[in-house]
Amino acid sequence: MSGFSGEWLTAREPVDHAARSEVLTGALAQMLDGKGKVTLTDLGAGTGSTLRALSPILGRNVNWHLIDHDDALLELAREAAMGAPVTFTKADLATDLSPISTHSPHAVTTSAFLDLVSHQWLERLVVYLSKHDLPFYAALTYDGRAGCDPVHELDETVLDAFNAHQRTDKGFGKALGPDAAKSAIDLFKSASFTILEERSDWLGTPGHKAFQRMLLAGWRDAAVEIEPSRKTRFDGWLSDRLAAVEENATCFVGHVDFLAIPPER
Ligand SMILES: C[S@@+](CC[C@H](N)C(=O)[O-])C[C@H]1O[C@@H](n2cnc3c(N)ncnc32)[C@H](O)[C@@H]1O
Repeated sequence: MSGFSGEWLTAREPVDHAARSEVLTGALAQMLDGKGKVTLTDLGAGTGSTLRALSPILGRNVNWHLIDHDDALLELAREAAMGAPVTFTKADLATDLSPISTHSPHAVTTSAFLDLVSHQWLERLVVYLSKHDLPFYAALTYDGRAGCDPVHELDETVLDAFNAHQRTDKGFGKALGPDAAKSAIDLFKSASFTILEERSDWLGTPGHKAFQRMLLAGWRDAAVEIEPSRKTRFDGWLSDRLAAVEENATCFVGHVDFLAIPPER
């Protein structure tokens, strides 16, 4: 199962928001324009990052429906909902998609979620959204590219192990990890959705030291889970990288945002 700390989601939120494609948030706003009050359902909502990213763009014309399986994160989302009208559903989306349509949404959103899911689950999601004629905005799906500057001789080894960890089961069957965005886009295209797609890479700058420290520790933890015999080397890599962060190193992580629009019927 996946577990995400509120602390990590909070540290990454400014980097997430800076990375989101403005072209796609603009396209989503344009698509909803003129519909009056709309309802958006957010999958794997966590602490509500998508609500906070989109509220300044979509204005107050949105009723939000946030779905997550983690009570503690939904409680944080309740506290940081920016006065927006929100309903919350605690649900395990791995086993049940039906909460998606309970509030008759105009579109479904998600962020940093699709890399957790399996190909079979994505197939079910695409069938579900197709059947309900629902547009889908997915931000910040990891695409397997990542790196730091300056480079370290073990970066590639650690990232290979991290990407292998990304493919392990996060509660939905074998996770797509770095292949998620491409698989999702291919499936939506096969179901005749129109796709708008943009890169949305994280850029961890010297101004994001706490974020970079947590990111690198996460890479190390994942790498050790995959290759426990290399723990000492990975620990050494992490100390070197953390020292480099203090010397103003930078890092990036590749992501994709896409908007899938169902065919006219
Ligand atoms: C990386 S976090 C992203 C959170 C938020 N969308 C954001 O961008 O900050 C992934 C989220 O998916 C949720 N999640 C994971 N598995 C889930 C499941 N089976 N059902 C519902 N939510 C799930 C986690 O609790 C977490 O909030």
